[in-house]
Amino acid sequence: MPDVFLFSLFLFFLQYGVSESYKPVILMHGILSSQRDLNDLKAFIKKAHPGTETYNIDAFNDLLSLEPMGKQVRIVAPMMKKIMDANPQGVHLICFSQGGLVCRGVLETLPSHNVYNFISLSSPQGGQFGVPSMLKPFIPAVSREYLYEVFYTSVGQNVSVGDYWYDPHHLDLFKKPALKVFLAQLNNQTANPYSSAFKNNFLKIKNLIMIGGPDDGVITPWQSSHFGTYDENENVKEMVNQEYYIKDSFGLQTLNKRGSLHKYVIPGVKHTHWHGNKDVFEKCIEQWLD
Ligand SMILES: *[C@@H]1O[C@H](CO)[C@@H](O)[C@H](O)[C@H]1NC(C)=O
Ligand SMILES: *[C@@H]1O[C@H](CO)[C@@H](O)[C@H](O)[C@H]1NC(C)=O
Repeated sequence: MPDVFLFSLFLFFLQYGVSESYKPVILMHGILSSQRDLNDLKAFIKKAHPGTETYNIDAFNDLLSLEPMGKQVRIVAPMMKKIMDANPQGVHLICFSQGGLVCRGVLETLPSHNVYNFISLSSPQGGQFGVPSMLKPFIPAVSREYLYEVFYTSVGQNVSVGDYWYDPHHLDLFKKPALKVFLAQLNNQTANPYSSAFKNNFLKIKNLIMIGGPDDGVITPWQSSHFGTYDENENVKEMVNQEYYIKDSFGLQTLNKRGSLHKYVIPGVKHTHWHGNKDVFEKCIEQWLD
């Protein structure tokens, strides 16, 4: 009965040949680290989903990661676009720490991206108001209350951290049109003639997965990994209370209403351990890499 044989062969390929192809994954590293640091995460992906193509973005490694965010986005966007064009079935993004803001910049500015799931791994999406020890050698040794005097200037904006420094006591400067603070532009909290395009581009993703936790030790406040910030009394203001969420300035509320926002709060993980933690991968990442 050759027909039956052929038919089962066909079923076999349908099941194991076609459906087993996972979308490629693009990985973007964080501040003062390099593309090599994400090889642990890459290995988890390859083991869980054999055959997956992965691409570590090899740019702004180590000290170069301190270069301005706008520049990083302008250089990284065409690198990612090349990978997307070669993979018309779509790709996933996993972006760690500062890399999550580089990726958000790419997603908001690239009109024809084909990113399915954007995994933001302990990334200061709400900004940063604290100087972790690894940054101390590069930043004036004053307490965080005074750093706005450095960061909210054209010289301070020339350093990546300055571009997402979020001082709740000086939001007038953060939003000042002449400074064009990178994060304020992404959030539409300062003049941005392209805000509608930014929102439309961002909304092309299928899911936004936000991962962070209270023992991170670097992201400040740690809730920034879920779009939280400090308010003027340094209490945490959650995403749903942010002005840009309420106004849906770049699509967060739309994503939430269509069930595309996924939030993971994982205790016990230090900042530099997120990408190498197998539990985090299995609990929060693996299922989104289909
Ligand atoms: C910005 O930093 C670069 C080096 O990264 C330097 O060449 C340039 O002069 C700086 N510009 C300003 C305005 O500080
Ligand atoms: C961005 O903010 C400006 C000024 O408040 C507003 O006119 C514009 O509609 C906003 N854009 C979006 C996409 O909400």
